[in-house]
Amino acid sequence: MRMVDIIAKKRDGHELTKEEISFFVQGYADNKIPDYQASAFTMAVLFRGMTKKETGYLTDAMMHSGETVDLSVLGSVVVDKHSTGGVGDKTSLVVGPLVASCGAKVAKMSGRGLGHTGGTLDKMESIPGMRIFLTQEEFINQLRNVGLAIIGQTAEIDPADKKLYALRDVTATVESIPLIASSIMSKKLASGSNAILLDVKFGSGAFMKTFDDAKTLAKAMVEIGDELHRDTRAILTDMDQPLGFAVGNSLEVKEAIDTLNGHGPKDFIELCIQAGSIMLEQAGIVKTLEEGRKKIEGQIANGEGLKKLAEFVAAQGGDASYITDPSKFPLAAHQVEIKANKAGYIRRIDSLSIGISAMKLGAGRETMEEAIDMAAGVVLRKKVGDRVEVGDVLAVAHTNKENVEDVYKDIHDAFEFQDEYLEVPNIVHAYIH
Ligand code: URA
Repeated sequence: MRMVDIIAKKRDGHELTKEEISFFVQGYADNKIPDYQASAFTMAVLFRGMTKKETGYLTDAMMHSGETVDLSVLGSVVVDKHSTGGVGDKTSLVVGPLVASCGAKVAKMSGRGLGHTGGTLDKMESIPGMRIFLTQEEFINQLRNVGLAIIGQTAEIDPADKKLYALRDVTATVESIPLIASSIMSKKLASGSNAILLDVKFGSGAFMKTFDDAKTLAKAMVEIGDELHRDTRAILTDMDQPLGFAVGNSLEVKEAIDTLNGHGPKDFIELCIQAGSIMLEQAGIVKTLEEGRKKIEGQIANGEGLKKLAEFVAAQGGDASYITDPSKFPLAAHQVEIKANKAGYIRRIDSLSIGISAMKLGAGRETMEEAIDMAAGVVLRKKVGDRVEVGDVLAVAHTNKENVEDVYKDIHDAFEFQDEYLEVPNIVHAYIH
C-alpha cells in the first residue's frame, strides 16, 4: 500500500477502506508517514469529507494507536461526560459528584485549559494537594470505592491523535467535522467508559459558532459511539454567554461548591440537572429523565453531592477542608468592579472576550508551559436577560496584575444591550441520542 495512492483516492472523492485508514493512522503514529503526506491527507478529508463508515474506521484506528483502559473489571456501566470546551464550564465538578452520589460510576480523563477556555485539571489543582495523575490501579480502585475519578490523559492514550491534532493546528485542517469527531471520540473510547455524554457547545467562545454546525458534529460523534457499541448521547448548549457567573480556576471551584450547596446560578444548575439526569439514565440508575431530575435535585438538597465532592477531593490527595470552608481559597490582591455606562437589557455577553480577559488577568495560559494564577478571573454580576441601569456592577475582575485597565474595558465591552425585554432560552437547545 502506498500513502500517495490513499491521498489521491480521497482527493478524488472515493471511500477509503478500513485497511487504508489503518495504514495511514499507524504509519503516521510510527513516524513512517511524513508530515507532508499527512497534511495533504487531512486537507483532502477537509474538502471531501468522510462517510460514516470511514469516520468509524478512523476513530477505531486512532483509539488503538496506543493504550486502551479496560474498566470492565468494575462490572458496571462507567459514564463519562465530555464538553467540547467553554468559558466558565465547571460542570464536571458538579455533575460528577451528583451522579456518583446516586451510585453511578463516573470516570473522566480531562484536559488542561488553553487559550480562552478553562480546563478541569487546572481547576482541580486550585485545591492544594490534588493529584491529577493516578496509576491505572489507583484509577480503578477509586472508581470502585468513591465512584468518581477525574484524571489527566496519559501520553500513552491515543498517540496518533496527539500528533495529528498538532499537525491540524498548523495546517488549517482543524475545522473538519469527521476529524474533530474522530479526535474527540477516539480519546473517549480509549479511556474505557462505556457510556458517554457529550456537551457540544455553540456560540461565541465555542468551537462551533452555530447551532447547525454543533448539531452536525454532535450527530457524527453519536454515530461513532453507536457504531462502536457505546451508549453515546449529546446535548447542544448555548455559549453565547459564559456558563454561570465565575470564570477562573478557584473562582469556578467555589461556584461549584455553592451550586452543590443549592445556591448555583440558574443556567448552570439547569445544565447540571439535565446532564446529570441523562447520565443517571445511561448508568441504569433511573428509568426516565424526569426521575433523574428529581434524584439530582434531591442530592443537591440533602447535601450528598457536596459530600461526594469532598470525598473525591480527599481520595485524590486534595485538602477537603477547602470544600467545607471555601473561604480558605486565597483571593486576588485586586477586585475591580466593572460598571455599566448605559442602561438596558443584556442581550449577549461575548464569551470569547470574557475568556480572553480572564486569561489576561492571569487565569489562563497562552502556551502550555505558562503558570496560571488560580485566584484570577472574572465574576459576572449580570447575565443575559437582566435589566441594568447606568452605574450597576456588570462584573468583578479578580487579578494580582497591575496596569490591566485595557482588560477592564474589554470586560465592559463584552456586554451587549438592547432596549426591549427578552426571554432567555433554556441553556440546553437539543438532546441527541
Ligand atoms: N478537541 C479535540 O480533542 N479534538 C479536536 O479535533 C477538536 C477539539
